[in-house]
Amino acid sequence: PLDTTIPDNALVCLIGAAGAGKSTWASTWPGTQVLELDRFRALVSDDAGKQEATDDAVFALQAVLEARLARGLMTVVDATNSETAVRAGLIATARRHGVPTVALVVPTPASVCVERQDGRPDNRSVPAPIVRAQHAAVVDAWPGLPGEGFDHVVVAENIHRLEPLLQRLSD
Ligand code: CTP
Ligand code: MG
Repeated sequence: PLDTTIPDNALVCLIGAAGAGKSTWASTWPGTQVLELDRFRALVSDDAGKQEATDDAVFALQAVLEARLARGLMTVVDATNSETAVRAGLIATARRHGVPTVALVVPTPASVCVERQDGRPDNRSVPAPIVRAQHAAVVDAWPGLPGEGFDHVVVAENIHRLEPLLQRLSD
């Protein structure tokens, strides 16, 4: 059966390659509820694409995540989350705060993710081989997500959060 459950006050971990549409899905939540790794890179380095700033950005994101989960607030982590160790860290953080976890998978085809890099500014355009590796990692991880400890594994296409947004865009 399809799981489309996103409980209140959960930790939602978006999972998808660069260009999959994670930030588009994230935009269906109020802005303060979304912790976007690119935004934290920009906050610590003035450059959302500066990969060298990733460790500092993750540190800062983690601090905000802890503060929000301690308050029991709905939180969406907008990053590729394609690495097992990264997801394990997010699940452990949520568990410490007694918060339910959702893996929200955005399984856009690799070719589309790669195409979408074209129009992006240089500092935000992810090279095709990296996008393909992220996509392959997500496909590999997908069946194991419940076993990793996510309370719900939801495929983005199966929920209807985007429809009002897309409707507004096409008006
Ligand atoms: N997009 C689209 N239709 C969707 C979702 C996204 O056309 N259903 C488009 C967006 O308008 C955007 C591009 O696809 O131009 C990438 O979407 P984005 O949400 O930015 O992807 P992310 O997964 O957030 O990419 P990144 O990891 O690089 O931040
Ligand atoms: Mg994004």
